[in-house]
Amino acid sequence: MGAVSKISSHYSQGGLLARLEASLREDGVDPASPTLEELAPYDHFHGRGLEATEDMANRLPVSAGDRILDIGSGLGGPARYMARRFGCQVSGIDLTAEFCEVARLLTARLGLEDRVSFDEGDALAMPFEDGAFDGAYSMNVSMNIADKRAFYREVRRVLRPGAWLCLSEVAQGPGGEPEYPLPWAATASSSFLATPEATCADLEAAGFRIERLRDTSGEARDFAARSRAIVEAGGKPPHRAVMLALGERAREAVANNGRASRDRCTVPIEIVCRKVRVRAGPESLLSSPP
Ligand SMILES: C[S@@+](CC[C@H](N)C(=O)[O-])C[C@H]1O[C@@H](n2cnc3c(N)ncnc32)[C@H](O)[C@@H]1O
Repeated sequence: MGAVSKISSHYSQGGLLARLEASLREDGVDPASPTLEELAPYDHFHGRGLEATEDMANRLPVSAGDRILDIGSGLGGPARYMARRFGCQVSGIDLTAEFCEVARLLTARLGLEDRVSFDEGDALAMPFEDGAFDGAYSMNVSMNIADKRAFYREVRRVLRPGAWLCLSEVAQGPGGEPEYPLPWAATASSSFLATPEATCADLEAAGFRIERLRDTSGEARDFAARSRAIVEAGGKPPHRAVMLALGERAREAVANNGRASRDRCTVPIEIVCRKVRVRAGPESLLSSPP
């Protein structure tokens, strides 16, 4: 199996929409007309769910009418949140076909299809013009991408000069290799964790200037404690995207994820950086767009 199909078959097993609609009905929500808030436990597929999306959005300079790119857009929760909050246009791209189909359908049900769109495609070769976007973000995606510099160069290509990029990712921590499966990969062969330092170095090499790097472990611990308390009191966990997408496989992945985070094998980080000009040198001339 090729790298791309290995990733999409990890995320997609078919029947996603039916499972989502059943879960919404169980929550007392009409699947034909859910609100952004009712979908949020399911369609923000990253650590801390909607809370992390809100945190990220609070720190970004987005204006109404901006063209924003969501790389690895999943079920589209973050894209719809950004469009609704800022009145911006959001283009999502994701290589998992089933996620794109469900993302389009949910977007139509929320009446946001004039502002939010989804393309099926690879983040390493995106179907967008040079300089097309005012900003881009990517949440819990780069862990699936082996060639980080090629990824960051491709993102840089589609951004206008001076545009921002925000990565909300799981980085390699000092605690050693995590155990698999994890929510983003069944085995180590499709997981490519980089340390925060290596991530910053790769971004700089690709033509970005780092503005902020945050370790969000404290927020993650706090969220996990609050979720445990809700479950112990008989409620549903506030973040249910991994269970929804991975089904039975989620149990082990979630347990391993908790241990990896506790033992600092993984560290959640948020990086904000800007596209800058690449100094003309032999390497940059060969590998970077102007
Ligand atoms: C953990 S999910 C996160 C989804 C979304 N960013 C969110 O936070 O709700 C990771 C997503 O990245 C996508 N992905 C992984 N590698 C990709 C690539 N090379 N190009 C496009 N999408 C990719 C997967 O298909 C999956 O939807």
